[in-house]
Amino acid sequence: MEVVIVDTPTDAVPIVADAYSKLLTEKPDAILGLATGSTPLGVYKELIRRHKEQGLSFAQARSFNLDEYVGLPEGHPEAYATFIRREFTDQVDFRPGAVKGPNGLAEDLLQAAIDYDNEIVDSGGIDLQILGIGSDGHIAFNEPMSSLGSRTRLKTLTEQTRADNARFFDSIDGVPRLCLTQGIGTIMEARHIVMLGFGENKADAVHACIEGPIMAKWPASALQLHPHTTVVVDEAAASRLEEHDYYKTTWSKKPDWQSI
Ligand code: F6R
Repeated sequence: MEVVIVDTPTDAVPIVADAYSKLLTEKPDAILGLATGSTPLGVYKELIRRHKEQGLSFAQARSFNLDEYVGLPEGHPEAYATFIRREFTDQVDFRPGAVKGPNGLAEDLLQAAIDYDNEIVDSGGIDLQILGIGSDGHIAFNEPMSSLGSRTRLKTLTEQTRADNARFFDSIDGVPRLCLTQGIGTIMEARHIVMLGFGENKADAVHACIEGPIMAKWPASALQLHPHTTVVVDEAAASRLEEHDYYKTTWSKKPDWQSI
């Protein structure tokens, strides 16, 4: 696991955007794993800028969202399918139908989850998966105690996650209780994972998941077993890391030619 500590979230943007540019240059038909939430927004804005000003193209790429609330009506502004289109994919040149997400309105939610997982596998697998981290260490909506081998499935959100996400809704009552989420086992099959964490309220989770034991209580700790994960955190989120200075030195000495 490579840990990159930057001063501010803005400093993370070019590092992560460069990974997309490199991948799409080498493999224009790459499969991208997309996260919603506030953390990746700066990266998406930069990718949109590179598309408009530098011709970075997503025309042959496909994408899979990590998760979706259950029961939000089609087009609801906080449905993750709507969010990702508004904040990113509609502003670049993905082909119609190339942007996928779990169907939180399916009549048979359990089957919809299985079908979505199979679709990811059948696509050849995700080349680059971007993740945020929850303040309780969740990735996608795999809350604490999720199986580290789990596949896409129906989950219940914790009250902490509902409270964290209430800022996007009129009140916590509007935040759904159920979701469909890629499992930790599904996420772990991505070839390169980039997990971002910004702000002091992520510091405990970042510390536990990077430097603590691998355990279901801290879902992102599973990433310690992944062969190519890059964690990019700002100083606030890194404030509890015991090996802080080592991560800084390693990054500063990294050869220019080596990307994340
Ligand atoms: C979003 C997702 C969540 C968020 C996490 C952090 O698709 O799966 O795991 O990445 O809750 O949310 P923010 O970025 O809003 O702090």
